[in-house]
Amino acid sequence: MARGGSVLLVLWVVVVAADGKHDAVNTTEVERSTAAPTPPLPLRPEYAHPAGVEALDPYNSEKNNPPPHHRDYLEEDYDHESNKEDDHENRDDVDELPSLSGDHLQSSTDDLPMFLQEPQHAFVVRNKPATLRCRAANALQVYFKCNDVRSVASTQFEFVDPQSGVRIVEAECNVTRDQLEEYFGEDRFTCTCFAWSSRGDIRSQPAVVELAYLKKQFAISPTATSVEAGVAATLRCSPPPAAPTPRISWLKHGAPLQQDHNVLISAEGNLLISRATLQDMGNYSCVAENIAGKRVSEPALLTVYVNGGWSSWSPWSPCRCAGRATGGQRRTRTCTEPYPLNGGAHCQGQAVQRTADCVPCQSGKLN
Ligand SMILES: *[C@@H]1O[C@H](CO)[C@@H](O)[C@H](O)[C@H]1NC(C)=O
Ligand SMILES: *[C@@H]1O[C@H](CO)[C@@H](O)[C@H](O)[C@H]1NC(C)=O
Ligand SMILES: *[C@@H]1O[C@H](CO)[C@@H](O)[C@H](O)[C@H]1NC(C)=O
Repeated sequence: MARGGSVLLVLWVVVVAADGKHDAVNTTEVERSTAAPTPPLPLRPEYAHPAGVEALDPYNSEKNNPPPHHRDYLEEDYDHESNKEDDHENRDDVDELPSLSGDHLQSSTDDLPMFLQEPQHAFVVRNKPATLRCRAANALQVYFKCNDVRSVASTQFEFVDPQSGVRIVEAECNVTRDQLEEYFGEDRFTCTCFAWSSRGDIRSQPAVVELAYLKKQFAISPTATSVEAGVAATLRCSPPPAAPTPRISWLKHGAPLQQDHNVLISAEGNLLISRATLQDMGNYSCVAENIAGKRVSEPALLTVYVNGGWSSWSPWSPCRCAGRATGGQRRTRTCTEPYPLNGGAHCQGQAVQRTADCVPCQSGKLN
């Protein structure tokens, strides 16, 4: 089989060579376009009759007579095609095309166009237009309508999926800031892609185009907060009005805050500390960021305080005046376990206990 293929290929080359002068003018044409492979390679109906209904089912040709070398030849040819496409900005996308080969399309060989990519919700960022893309198989025309008006700024181009040989039409449409600002419709600015063939047309999901923005004023800024060590702490943050929804992060003393088992950022953007420690004390700012920009809140001081705690009592010892024992006993304790810190409460109660017979010294000074 493979051998038969190469023989055919050789034959073809010979025919081309023999006809060389004649063809020289159109050589690039032949190389670039799969449109007209010279016999004996089979003509693919969709290219032979681009306007015909048959044209819209590329699988007919493959089902009817796929000689073994056919694919080889085409793939080689598509390599040329790819190289030529290199300078095209969407070149990278070609690799990510959903595969059209196999059962998927065999089972859906109706002639209606089929979307391979529908336009997505997009944003105009400052003066950079939003680019909507749409891609369809089995289509003769792909175009955009924005707010029900056909977009004149929409461009269309075609290429062939190297895997399946399916001709794909892609359209691109830029929406500018001016267009958004000049639009006063009741609904949001919406573009829809249409793919048309002689059998009918299909419309994509609508894609809303918005101006990206990020206001200055946080809906909720974190405020100074004081918590006892060992207790949970929350610093609240709610971003400024924005589109698209901003990501929230936090800074501690101006440096990005790492989340860990003890510190995390809630879905709403609040900073949650499950057990505050002295190391958590500091100035925190909330950061809201989206494609339109970045805002940093005023820093808020998180104070982690420690309430004082008594040490255990000392042993009883004799009461003394001027170094001499005077009868009676006393014992002491200190507010050091722990020391009160950062405004934590002092210990309540007496630091000294005396027996009843421990009398004050003459100086009036207590023992
Ligand atoms: C070369 O291509 C042009 C169009 O691309 C066509 O009109 C012309 O007939 C072709 N010439 C030959 C010799 O195939
Ligand atoms: C859309 O804008 C980009 C630059 O933002 C440009 O490269 C591209 O050619 C434009 N496409 C159309 C269809 O105008
Ligand atoms: C927080 O910031 C204030 C003002 O910048 C500063 O005076 C204070 O020392 C900072 N607190 C801590 C714990 O770093």
